[in-house]
Amino acid sequence: MTVTLTPSQQLLTPQLEIRGGAQLQGEVRVSGAKNSALVLMTASLLSADSLRLRNMPALSDIGGMGDILEAIGVRINRGSDWVELQADQLSQVSPPYELVNSLRASFFCIGPLLARLGVARVPLPGGCKIGARPVVEHVKGLKALGAQVTIEHGVVSAVVPGRGHRLTGGRIHLDCPSVGATETLMMAAALADGETVIENAAQEPEVIDLAGLIIAMGGRVRGAGTPTITIVGMEKLHGADYMVIPDRIEAGTLLLAGAITRSCIRVTPVIPEHLGAVISKLEECGCKLSNDGIGITIKADQVNSVDLRTQPFPGFPTDLQAPFMSLLATANGTSVITEAIFENRLQHIGELQRMGAAIRTQGNTAFVEGVARLSGAPVTGSDLRAAAAMVLAGLAADGVTAVQGLQHLDRGYDNLEGKLNALGASIKRTYT
Ligand code: EPZ
Repeated sequence: MTVTLTPSQQLLTPQLEIRGGAQLQGEVRVSGAKNSALVLMTASLLSADSLRLRNMPALSDIGGMGDILEAIGVRINRGSDWVELQADQLSQVSPPYELVNSLRASFFCIGPLLARLGVARVPLPGGCKIGARPVVEHVKGLKALGAQVTIEHGVVSAVVPGRGHRLTGGRIHLDCPSVGATETLMMAAALADGETVIENAAQEPEVIDLAGLIIAMGGRVRGAGTPTITIVGMEKLHGADYMVIPDRIEAGTLLLAGAITRSCIRVTPVIPEHLGAVISKLEECGCKLSNDGIGITIKADQVNSVDLRTQPFPGFPTDLQAPFMSLLATANGTSVITEAIFENRLQHIGELQRMGAAIRTQGNTAFVEGVARLSGAPVTGSDLRAAAAMVLAGLAADGVTAVQGLQHLDRGYDNLEGKLNALGASIKRTYT
């Protein structure tokens, strides 16, 4: 969420004060998908024509990505839920370090920049709290398309040698189905000379959304959403006017808000096949879900323990592991949760324990014994999804929970407190 602060507020620490125990009711709207919108913005680099993206979420990360693209010469017009980008006057090939370091998705610019200009220098994205976040697969794939890539002083420099500086289509096999690597290489291949096949590609809905945009821009992509994606490179791509898919992770977080408060709420719009694993797990723990093709209604009375293991799509999404753990901390019985995607994404456990959750860990597995009631406490979200997990826990806790770490939350949730308050929650954003 993009929050406008008064000068004095800028000096203070923001927090959400949540009075727990309220039941929720009504309908809540899901915003456009952060992890699609960010990548689609970088795809504007593939053409000199204007690209209009609709259903854009109001998030600080979106603002950050806009700053990065403007710094390399992209002209941007912004509306309340749309953005217009035109990369007809690219001024340089290297986004500024201080901006890239805080926004991993900006590294994906290296693919379209290299495809369009034949040269790109992009700072390595910082590792973050949840893991090292390597870009080995991205670099390996660019080399397979004919780029010479070096990494010095924290900057990845790529150049296409030879006449015309145009990438050449090729066959890429990813060692792991990396979402960012798949997206980076799809964009690089979209302007390459010849056909590219990406094997062991990520199958996330955001990958399918990017393929849809490239096709709308005149590109040729098939197989997105399967492990093998084929891209036939074009000489040029034209502009487009494109709608971003709804945010499946926000939708899952809102469904979990209904479940943890034992309420009945409707979440819309939702594309059900984007949330198959999450819907199954919610039903397995006793929630009743009905899907009317546009939205999902969840009704929760008894919530029982379930086991879950995060996996690449279509498996259970790592981005909902922490929010789901908050629910299971209040379930009947003991759940076993394994984080198998990121090496350090269990930091929310300490904060849940401060609220009375009974959780033991062994490596990347958590044993969560449900308790009757969590108790409100001051807690901090260490990353975007951990912060969301603390908000959910606060909804169900006795008393007041003060959640800090909103700089993370506002990166990925568009007015979460406003949406939850409209359903009957009691949340205030205060500054200490
Ligand atoms: C995307 O990150 C999302 N971010 C993440 O969402 C999401 O958690 C992740 O995909 C997994 O679904 C955006 O789309 C902007 P990966 P990405 O490359 O592309 C390993 C959120 O909260 N790996 O698929 O960086 C890596 O270490 C964020 O919204 C390699 O080993 O994820 C990780 O363990 C967090 N080598 C796993 O793959 C590589 O070269 C998944 O990473 C690349 C990745």
